[in-house]
Amino acid sequence: MKPTAALHEPLQLTEEVLTLRAWRMPDMVVYQHAPDEWWLTPLDDDLPIIRLNQVGVELLAALDGHVTVAALLERFGNRVCGPDGQSGRWHLERWPQPRYSLCYFGAQPPTTNQHGAKWDLLLQQVREGWSGNQGFEGEKHLSEFHLREITKRESHFDTIETTVSHLFREPSEVLQGLTYGRLLARRMRQLGWWGSRTQQILEVGGGLGYVAREIASELSPAERQGLRYLCLDITKPFLHSQLGLAREAGWNSGGMQANAEWLPLRDASIDLVIDNENLADMTPVQLQRDEVKSNRGHNPLHQEAVDWIRRMRLPLGNDLPAEFIFNLGPIRFLSELWRVLRPGGRAILVEFGIEDGWSAPVKLPGHTEYEVQYTHLRHAARWLGFKDEYYPLPKFLVIRPDTRVLCTGAAYTIQRICAGLGRSFPIRAYTEAELHHTLGDLVPKLLGCHYHEVSDPAWFGLWDFKVLLLEKPGGVSRPAFSETKGFRWYAHGR
Ligand SMILES: C[S@@+](CC[C@H](N)C(=O)[O-])C[C@H]1O[C@@H](n2cnc3c(N)ncnc32)[C@H](O)[C@@H]1O
Repeated sequence: MKPTAALHEPLQLTEEVLTLRAWRMPDMVVYQHAPDEWWLTPLDDDLPIIRLNQVGVELLAALDGHVTVAALLERFGNRVCGPDGQSGRWHLERWPQPRYSLCYFGAQPPTTNQHGAKWDLLLQQVREGWSGNQGFEGEKHLSEFHLREITKRESHFDTIETTVSHLFREPSEVLQGLTYGRLLARRMRQLGWWGSRTQQILEVGGGLGYVAREIASELSPAERQGLRYLCLDITKPFLHSQLGLAREAGWNSGGMQANAEWLPLRDASIDLVIDNENLADMTPVQLQRDEVKSNRGHNPLHQEAVDWIRRMRLPLGNDLPAEFIFNLGPIRFLSELWRVLRPGGRAILVEFGIEDGWSAPVKLPGHTEYEVQYTHLRHAARWLGFKDEYYPLPKFLVIRPDTRVLCTGAAYTIQRICAGLGRSFPIRAYTEAELHHTLGDLVPKLLGCHYHEVSDPAWFGLWDFKVLLLEKPGGVSRPAFSETKGFRWYAHGR
């Protein structure tokens, strides 16, 4: 869905607007294409790149919070600001709009804290425009989005949503020179998960398939012997990509298009489940307090959610809000995991989420995801009978919090600039050295490239991601090695 028509109208420079002061948005990347030509990228990719001449750059520089819109209009209003011929007035009427997000008009500065609260609000407005809705988007919205609206896989994880595993799909300084999938596989080796008992692996919601590819490259031939890698995804184009990469990587693999909330698999048929950044895509339910208090849901789906809460004796506290979002899909998924895992089987689930309070919607272009409420999810896991362990993702992967990476907003800007130049630029988590290596001669022409520590929420919110490790008790304990032709292959870390 695209922004509403109202957002396309240029801003009226009324008397009231003229009295406001103007600030350039922070963290802007500008590209100098020629001695008298600079490029700016509006936030909305559907808008063309803005090309400026020296006068346009002076207008940009003048947005310093000291001048009023009236003064800017008087100085630049009738002047041509770039090779495309638009006047200063044209730019002033558009740049403060959410779709452009290039400047801010206000009575007070645009930032009130180091993360720029008002800047975030503008971004939120843009996202709500993209998603065409506010707040909760209904129970079926996510499965329908995945089933019907994703028709091609190319660029999805660059433009619609990005994931930690996508940002780190190539070897990265942040991950000690490894990819995300390889590091995950190493951690699972340290946990003793690649022993002879692991034969049937199921990856749920594998996106483009990089985790499958990278796990394969980490495991030794002995560790991979006899393993089968099943991919299951609701989105057909992604499943094709997963199977392609899994087979290229040498997996004995198979795939099925299905909703993970109802796994089409036999009981006790799987040894290991990998579910990376998929839980927030599963069915949310917006429950009302009276439904929980009376144990009566307003419809069958709500009744199912209320029944789970009651059966699990989920402690929701005394200050239940009048309305709240409950992660029904992730709980259904857990109960399916319990069914399909063999005794002794394990699962690793990674997703962003919270431990206290109530799940909130997270707006992305075209769809809305929902934070995982991990206290509830862990309660459900234990109630089902799982043994669980729980870590913040960076801690699980042992990521140094102070490594600095290119701001994701800057990465998107550079991608657009590169597209304008006919070059490709994959969205990844670049350290400064990696950016120089990738862009070479372009770097000095990019003004304003900036870096955040990986722990800084302004970068990606990496510390919001959690790892839930589950084990279904009852496995027979066997030695941590397998034997081939008289040789013993141990499963412990390298
Ligand atoms: C945010 S993407 C994560 C992709 C990949 N694991 C990664 O880390 O880049 C979510 C993935 O889960 C899939 N998915 C979403 N809802 C699903 C569901 N209910 N059942 C199965 N797969 C689902 C999507 O098609 C997509 O492949």
